[in-house]
Amino acid sequence: EERPGGTASPQAGGTTSAFLAACRGEKVDHVPVWFMRQAGRSLPEYRKVREGVPMLESCTRPEMVVEITMQPVRRYGVDAAIFYSDIVVPLKAVGVDLDIVPGTGPVVDEPIRTRKAAEKRLRALEPDDVRYVTEAVRGLVSELGDTPLIGFAGAPFTLASYLVEGGPSRDHRLTKELMYSAPDAWDALMSRLADIAAAFLRVQVDAGARAVQLFDSWVGTLSRADYVRYVKPYAAKVLSSVADLGVPRIHFGVGTGELLGEMADAGADVVGVDWRVDLAEGIERVGKGRSVQGNLDPTVLFAPQDVIEAKARAVLEAGRSARGHVFNLGHGVLPATDPDALARLVELVHSYEVG
Ligand code: CP3
Repeated sequence: EERPGGTASPQAGGTTSAFLAACRGEKVDHVPVWFMRQAGRSLPEYRKVREGVPMLESCTRPEMVVEITMQPVRRYGVDAAIFYSDIVVPLKAVGVDLDIVPGTGPVVDEPIRTRKAAEKRLRALEPDDVRYVTEAVRGLVSELGDTPLIGFAGAPFTLASYLVEGGPSRDHRLTKELMYSAPDAWDALMSRLADIAAAFLRVQVDAGARAVQLFDSWVGTLSRADYVRYVKPYAAKVLSSVADLGVPRIHFGVGTGELLGEMADAGADVVGVDWRVDLAEGIERVGKGRSVQGNLDPTVLFAPQDVIEAKARAVLEAGRSARGHVFNLGHGVLPATDPDALARLVELVHSYEVG
């Protein structure tokens, strides 16, 4: 339902946010919930606002960003908003020639496959490069009231995969080829991407974001040994360089069952778990000192209501053994999802008895 003035639901806020408390492992009065890709094509009001405006252009229009970010907060009363932008926005902002092709994803005109190219084409991100982000975050913070805004960035490996492949890839062959065969080029690329990601997170938190999520969506393509050697140091660098900001740091990837312990060790406060891992097992792998986020299979929302409810309850039950649990899907909301199914899911999570 619409809430007057765009303010968040009382459940979502209060002066102590259940979302922030769960991230920190503090006591909550309800299990907090938000959804990756909660803003986007599953919402008719999103499709209407975006009509005729290219994705990357929409990210540079603060009023549009505020409206799109607020849409799922108003509709669902979720416990957090996720900033409407994209992981490639900071790359575009430092001058990489790329676009987001509808139905495909980010496409890079001239892939980056050498040390020279990385050094020449990936300069540092300055706050002035993304003034529209600062403006949109400030606007959001005042609209959101007590509901926290989550800022985000793409992690070095996932960004590298788009830059090296030139677009989405199933097997990430070229990315791994570079990683295995050109350590200098790999280090130049990953170091610069770590700096860009950290700077992009800092801009959002400086403007008022109260948590950050580092998306390493495609890192599940790696073995644990390769993750530790080629990726973890750079993810750790991003996470440690925003530690001083004092906001919870969430770290998420898809297909990361074998990597969860290492991703936790990279330094996040909360580790996102995808649906392939039983959440109780995921909590074991993440370890006692961190909270977890997840992990209902996004396709479960296409099941009959009783199946959705049983599976959501199983996630909630498993979440009890965590230091803190933020309910979410195991990956983003699929565009064909019925928004009413998400609304019912939020109600179910909010009515679940804690303690
Ligand atoms: O609610 C939200 O999460 C909105 C903010 C958001 C978007 N992209 C908006 C978007 C976030 C957090 C992202 C992150 C992102 N972008 C990731 C990491 C998260 C994940 O899903 O694993 C990745 C891998 C990308 C790269 C990217 N951008 C892809 C794969 C796509 C989808 C391409 C398609 O059309 O299927 C995009 C485009 C994109 N980013 C859309 C949205 C709402 C769809 C654009 C449209 O409406 O046409």
